[in-house]
Amino acid sequence: MSDVELIVLDDAEAVAEAVAQRLARAVADGGNVVLTGGSTPKLAYERAAAIAPDWRGIEVWWGDERCVPAEDERSNYGMAKAALLDRLEHPPAAVHRIFGEAGRDEGAALYEEELGSEALGLVLLGVGPDGHVASLFPGAVTLDETERRAVGAEAGHEPFVDRVTLTLPALRGAAEVLFLLTGEEKADAARRAFAQDPDAATPASLVRAESGRTVAILDRVAAAAIDA
Ligand code: 6PG
Repeated sequence: MSDVELIVLDDAEAVAEAVAQRLARAVADGGNVVLTGGSTPKLAYERAAAIAPDWRGIEVWWGDERCVPAEDERSNYGMAKAALLDRLEHPPAAVHRIFGEAGRDEGAALYEEELGSEALGLVLLGVGPDGHVASLFPGAVTLDETERRAVGAEAGHEPFVDRVTLTLPALRGAAEVLFLLTGEEKADAARRAFAQDPDAATPASLVRAESGRTVAILDRVAAAAIDA
């Protein structure tokens, strides 16, 4: 599996700009792009929509979803719709929303069917302060999944609602995994994810592209413990 290429930038704005530029290159190349939820990517999504407004060559997927309706404020789809999709001049060729409202097991089954054997291109991943990625939480049974590409998950971090998540095999099959982390509350997770041996206590440490690139873009405060 690929080593992580670390890119440390001055602040969250610089991280957002770098992620937006990488998204713009993915848009130019076409293919499948997997978005992450959470709050970190919002600014990057807004910038990406501004610099690359034509997503006709892209199919959009999500790394995970909360089991809530699309219009719920906790929806990862809803966040990306407001920050990115609604701002585009030309929408993606396809938007593969995870139907979290169907419940974690039914929603995962539907997403698994839609994923089929689709090759995932650029996969964005935020990292929680506990080291979770998507909805793969520390020590969770979902980390043991070796066959399915999507599974239901119990929440191991706020918001405490059931989830649907891509699995480690799915994430490791990406052409490129791109982690994005900002803020001092991510410093310990970044150290465990990128500067220590893989460990189920830190799911981000288990995600490396098997035959593609693995890149982590961090601001200085999130990277502070890595140099220690
Ligand atoms: C989710 C997200 C999750 C997120 C991390 C980091 O559904 O909660 O997909 O994996 O990326 O929790 O979130 P922040 O960017 O808000 O710190």
